[in-house]
Amino acid sequence: MCYVLQDEKLIKIEEKTKIFKYEFLSSYIPMWNKILCGNKRRKRALIDTHAGTGKVKLNDKEIYGSSILFLEKTALKQELLQFYFIEKDYDKYHTLREIVDKVCEKGFYFPDVYGKKTIVIEKSGLPYEIKVPLYNSKVKRPNPDQIQILRGDCVSLIDNILEEIKDIPAFFFIDPCGKFAWELIEKIGENRFFDQQGKMKLNEQGRKIDGTELFINFSWEAILRNKNKDEKDKFFQEMYGLNWDGMREALKRAKSTKIKNREKFTEYDLYIEVYKEKLQKYFDFVIEMSIVGVKSEKNPIYAMIFCSNNEIAKNLYENKEVALNKTKKTYLYLKEKSLNKKEFTYEKYRAFMQNQKSLDEFFNKEIT
Ligand SMILES: C[S@@+](CC[C@H](N)C(=O)[O-])C[C@H]1O[C@@H](n2cnc3c(N)ncnc32)[C@H](O)[C@@H]1O
Repeated sequence: MCYVLQDEKLIKIEEKTKIFKYEFLSSYIPMWNKILCGNKRRKRALIDTHAGTGKVKLNDKEIYGSSILFLEKTALKQELLQFYFIEKDYDKYHTLREIVDKVCEKGFYFPDVYGKKTIVIEKSGLPYEIKVPLYNSKVKRPNPDQIQILRGDCVSLIDNILEEIKDIPAFFFIDPCGKFAWELIEKIGENRFFDQQGKMKLNEQGRKIDGTELFINFSWEAILRNKNKDEKDKFFQEMYGLNWDGMREALKRAKSTKIKNREKFTEYDLYIEVYKEKLQKYFDFVIEMSIVGVKSEKNPIYAMIFCSNNEIAKNLYENKEVALNKTKKTYLYLKEKSLNKKEFTYEKYRAFMQNQKSLDEFFNKEIT
């Protein structure tokens, strides 16, 4: 959850947000950047559609928000990388500009990196071991020419950006505070995956093209607040691109699938399933990040959804997620013990556990 206090410039966040949003971005983005670049220079773009203020407050501490994290985590490899930060609110936009300007001026400091290699020297006639820096400390300043900070509604501004980044890999971070428009996803999806005639672009293997990743902060809270209101038709039309009748049908379908597959589910699971199904029009891999917390009305949870058509990006995502999610200790433990670590993917583990659960449930039912 995020909120801004009246007398404060910065957005306030909770610990959960830090873990699931920032820790994930901090570890995923450098790898995304490195993998895309390889040894060659390659144009690529990072788009923060709801950029906020650049810094956020966690308890009484100021930490980097998403846009400054994007600058910091790519600082060592920023050639040909284009940044787009969009913020609708006038004051926050100006705060963001100030913070980005300061960061570009001061730069990011990277300390010496020491390797394991040590050299032995003589000191007062005795052998003495010192560690050798692999990389010397440095300050890296982002180039302001590569950063566009735009004020306005991301749904309107995205068209121009999509034209500017045509045919280059892009990572979109979509992080609203609550409800946001399905139209934004639709514009990205139609532009990146469909041609002028409305035909899906496919790669040489006949699969959906890659080079587009979305990381969405999905607001279960917004749904909880609106699903029983009189205006729910308008709400769902905006958030899912479906009116209430369409939603009801889709929820029913999701429920029958869960029952058929003998899966346990909550109301939350059905709403997120419908959303994921819509995203699958554009993406082969649509993964919800498991969030620590109770999925109840009293305790709304944080849900992040990752979308990609690239298997490597998907595996990278899952590995990062597993590492962040403390509930997945068992998987990590088993992977460590596994003889073929590469083959022991979280996806396989999850499928195995799901089957195991279904068998357990089946036998329990038979006995009772
Ligand atoms: C959760 S905050 C963003 C936090 C930021 N991504 C971070 O992690 O540091 C959501 C921001 O989106 C902005 N916003 C809301 N609707 C928007 C829209 N349609 N277009 C652009 N920005 C919007 C809000 O003013 C708010 O600053």
